[in-house]
Amino acid sequence: MTKVAMDSSEIASGTMRCDLAQARADFPILRTHVNGHPLAYLDNAATTQKPDAVIDAEADFYRNANANVHRGVHALSQRATDAYEAARHKVRSFINAHADAEIIFARGTTEAINLVAQGFAEPRLAAGDEVIVSAMEHHSNIVPWQMACRRTGAVLRVVPVDDAGEFDLDAYAELLNARTRLVAVTHLSNALGTITPVRRIIDLAHARGVPVLVDGAQAVSHLPIDVRALDCDFYAFSAHKLYGPTGIGVLYGKTEHLQAMTPCQGGGDMIRSVSFDATEYNELPYRLEAGTPHIAGVVGLGAALDYVSAIGIDRIAAHESELLHYATRQVTGIPGLRIVGTAAEKAGILSFTLAGIHPHDIGTMLDDCGIAIRAGHHCAMPLMQRLGVDGTARASFALYNTHDDVDRLVAGIRRVCATLRS
Ligand code: ALA
Repeated sequence: MTKVAMDSSEIASGTMRCDLAQARADFPILRTHVNGHPLAYLDNAATTQKPDAVIDAEADFYRNANANVHRGVHALSQRATDAYEAARHKVRSFINAHADAEIIFARGTTEAINLVAQGFAEPRLAAGDEVIVSAMEHHSNIVPWQMACRRTGAVLRVVPVDDAGEFDLDAYAELLNARTRLVAVTHLSNALGTITPVRRIIDLAHARGVPVLVDGAQAVSHLPIDVRALDCDFYAFSAHKLYGPTGIGVLYGKTEHLQAMTPCQGGGDMIRSVSFDATEYNELPYRLEAGTPHIAGVVGLGAALDYVSAIGIDRIAAHESELLHYATRQVTGIPGLRIVGTAAEKAGILSFTLAGIHPHDIGTMLDDCGIAIRAGHHCAMPLMQRLGVDGTARASFALYNTHDDVDRLVAGIRRVCATLRS
């Protein structure tokens, strides 16, 4: 990790009050200009930027270690395999899984959830069985379950959220019943920032013998994750929201569940032996990783975990929480601004609407000033419907954001209001 001193102008202006300001220099893209302005990147819930350590790790892999894994007897193949398996070990340690074999590499959270829906849930679902999700799920934690239900005749049940965007635990407890086969719930809403009470959700499900999948796509970069303390059955996340590469993610599963899963994809590496009569599958984790994996992406993910661990997820969380509270104070009182998502437990995301102004217009006008946010339904259309909005403008924070980013966002919002309401 690059360690640089704070720029003297930043010290003078007091815009970088957190020691994480030093880490900002590790992200080369943050030095870019957009529409003539320095980039203020506040679209981290969509994807985070990548530090030199991650970019260099991927490039170094291709320069010095590129070969296929688990196949060759030659030195490079061994080097590639060692790097790939070392990253798996880092993931295990980062989320405190019991064993490396509980870490399955997938393309991302979406593929990880689909693997469980098809390979674990579907074979266990019968007509009339139920799968529970919440009203604040990302489409990737809704559609795979809808597909599994459609194919089996099972029914998707939905835990409501209240007007603040809080998970309704009482309603959830009532929805759990003898036909419930699986619960799939987000750990942290990408659209609102709500942190859900996953530990309680899991306890209630387990009291009925129901396994729980946690969608950790957003949580993994904002909260410490301990899958053993959570006692979740599955945990899914993507590298690209954790300062790592796109196209690679993780499915954690308890060993007994992964062993019971039907491989959804057949191909190389997932087999022990093949004949035209029968195929014997490989052991975990390989039996669920068919074909040549995204080796460089896995290496990049390992570098991202090293990077985040060196800073400390608790420090990152504290910094983002401080920025969120600062931003919330700054926008409160802007005429016509409604914060969408006001849960008591919330992280890193400020979603809002401006009366009479379309979120896309907010996003476009902020982009004119070099400020990147996301505008729209955030892949959570049922949640938008529940909260009575077509979409929101969403600023989402990462470890490298500063008070100056927030000040520019707030000034930009005021400019949007002044321009479009005049
Ligand atoms: N799920 C990503 C987001 O929230 C793409 O923007």
